[in-house]
Parts: sequence; C-alpha cells; structure tokens
Amino acid sequence: MRVLGIETSCDETGIAVYDSRDGLLGQALHSQIALHRDYGGVVPELASRDHIARVLPLVDEVLGQAGLDLRDLDAIAYTRGPGLAGALLVGAGVAAALAMATELPLLGVHHLEGHLLSPLLAQPDLDFPFVALLVSGGHTMLLQATSLGCYELLGETVDDAAGEAFDKSAKLLGLGYPGGPELARLAAGGRAEAFDLPRPKLHSEDLDFSFAGLKTAVLTRVRQLSQADQAIPAQARADLAAATQEAITDVLAAKAAAALRRSGLRTLVVAGGVGANLRLREKLDAACAALGAQVHYPPLQWCTDNGPMIAYAACRRLQAGLARGSRDYAFDIQPRWDLADLRAC
Ligand code: KG4
Ligand code: ZN
Repeated sequence: MRVLGIETSCDETGIAVYDSRDGLLGQALHSQIALHRDYGGVVPELASRDHIARVLPLVDEVLGQAGLDLRDLDAIAYTRGPGLAGALLVGAGVAAALAMATELPLLGVHHLEGHLLSPLLAQPDLDFPFVALLVSGGHTMLLQATSLGCYELLGETVDDAAGEAFDKSAKLLGLGYPGGPELARLAAGGRAEAFDLPRPKLHSEDLDFSFAGLKTAVLTRVRQLSQADQAIPAQARADLAAATQEAITDVLAAKAAAALRRSGLRTLVVAGGVGANLRLREKLDAACAALGAQVHYPPLQWCTDNGPMIAYAACRRLQAGLARGSRDYAFDIQPRWDLADLRAC
C-alpha cells in the first residue's frame, strides 16, 4: 500500500510517500523558520499562506523522487489536527482536491499519532506495547501505547509544554526562534550547576508535568543578571541556558522512568521536537539502562514535524483496518483533538 502524506499543522510543510512494502519512497520538507523569525514565534496567517505556496510544488518533488504518478498511490492522507486552523485547512483542502481528482481514498491523520509512530518508521522491528514520551512545542505527555490507536494518557503538562519551556526561556535569554535548539547550543558551553532552578513536580505522585514556574524562575535570574540594563555576561548566559536545559530534562527523564516502572513496560519511545535534545537523550539512556529498558528515538529529522510520519500513520491505520479513508471528499480539520478520542480499544 502506497500513501501520500501531507503535513501542514504548524510551520513546516512536510510531504512524503510511504510504501508498506518498500518503505519511504520520497520526502520533502519546507521549514518556515526564516519567515517567522522576526516575530519571535509562528504567525498563523503567514504560516497558512506559505503552506499554500509550498504544498503542490513539494508534492511534485516527492512524486518525482519516487518516480510515481498520483495514480500510482492507494490513498492520500493529511494532518487533520491538532494544529493551527488555517494551516491545517491548506493541507486538508489540497489533499481532498488531489484525492477527488484521482478518486483515491482520503484520510485525516492525528498529528500526535504521527509523532508517536515516527520511531517505528525508522525501526520496523519495534512494536507495541510501549510507553511514549511525547514532547513537542504544544504537548508534553506520557502515554501507554498498547496497540495501534490504543493510547492511554498517563500524564501530561498542567501548563506549558516542554518545548514551550525551552522556547520561552530562550526568548528571555535573547535567543532567536525556535528557541529549543538555540538554547541547547548555548547550553553546551555552560555549567548547569551555576544556577539552582526549580524542578516542578519532580517528586509528585502523579505523572504530570508543570513548566510555568521554571519560566518565571528563569525570568527572575535574567532580571538579576541584567541589572542597570547591562547585557548578561556571556558565561552567565550560557550557564543559565545549561541550568534551564538541565531542569527541564531532569523532570522529563524522571517522569518517563516513573511511567516505565508504573506500567511494567520495558520499552520507551520518544517523539516530538524536544526529543531531538541530546541532553534529554543522555538522561533517558541512563534512566532506561538502570531499569533494563530499551529506549527508541526517531532520527533527528523526524523528531520535528515531517511528512513521513503522516504517510506512515495513515498507512498503518489503513492496513490495520482502523480506517478506510473517505470517498465523499468532505474533508474536515480538528484544531483541538484529544489523542484519546482515537479509541481503537
Ligand atoms: O514537534 P515539533 O516540531 O512541533 C510541534 O508539534 O510542536 O516541536 C517543536 C518544539 C519547539 O518548541 C522547539 O524549540 C523544540 O521542539 N526543539 C527542541 C530541540 N529541537 C526542537 N527543544 C530542545 N532541544 C532541541 N534540540
Ligand atoms: Zn509536531
């Protein structure tokens, strides 16, 4: 089965063709980072307009890589949500038009299921059940994934997402957008122990997260360090970046380990943009080794939003008979969409 996947939920246009027998046949990505940089964050209207300009040329590019025509496909999939409404509409509209023109089934995919399954895309022998740590710009969750579509929420953030904590702290440190990778780069030259930052909910009974207090603590340190409007000394800035990264990753790793212990499962799958963070990976590696558990990450290029994860998730659903794809081409989007609503169990 061969599926075209179209991802336009936020600031990346991602297109791919996945074949259930031959794997990934083509992929292309356009990142809007440069477009939004001057605004310090994603401007939804600009994002939608840019997706409009990019989707079809990227579809052509991917089909060219794969040496395929639209008629060689078995289904067309798009990200139905969650995400920015205008951005989602672009992918959904184009996918529906292409599906209608070719009379192929049309399928809307849950963006987070795409992230969740992305480590399996790279490692076909990896299988359910597992605990998933989903850490992106908008979400921070621990899930027990029993089978395809059967995801039980173990814990989630009660305020900011981990990616948001990275991005907001990075902004306070005067770094560009998106802040996560920039903060990680700055942290590489810093001493994490130079600042004692809070680790909210580290020892709480539940598997929830809270990062809003950390952001406030970073703000306080930034104010102290930049007294009399002096720029923060370079070393102090790097130290504060390292301390912030250390605090966020400490909590993520501790809670992921607690979720493994609680569920009795011995496989952890990490997905979402923050999963690209190397310090987080070091800590998860150590925590899982101590528990005798395996940890799997998607390749760095598939941690952040991408087309392959949407094509792959759609293909798995179609093959498992969990979805058939519609042929009435009445596409819809769901900007807010709970992963538990997928309920295949
Ligand atoms: O999954 P993703 O591409 O988009 C969402 O669906 O949100 O995740 C983007 C988030 C941003 O907050 C970004 O700063 C963060 O992932 N991120 C990182 C790193 N790379 C991306 N955070 C920390 N360290 C990184 N290396
Ligand atoms: Zn995402």
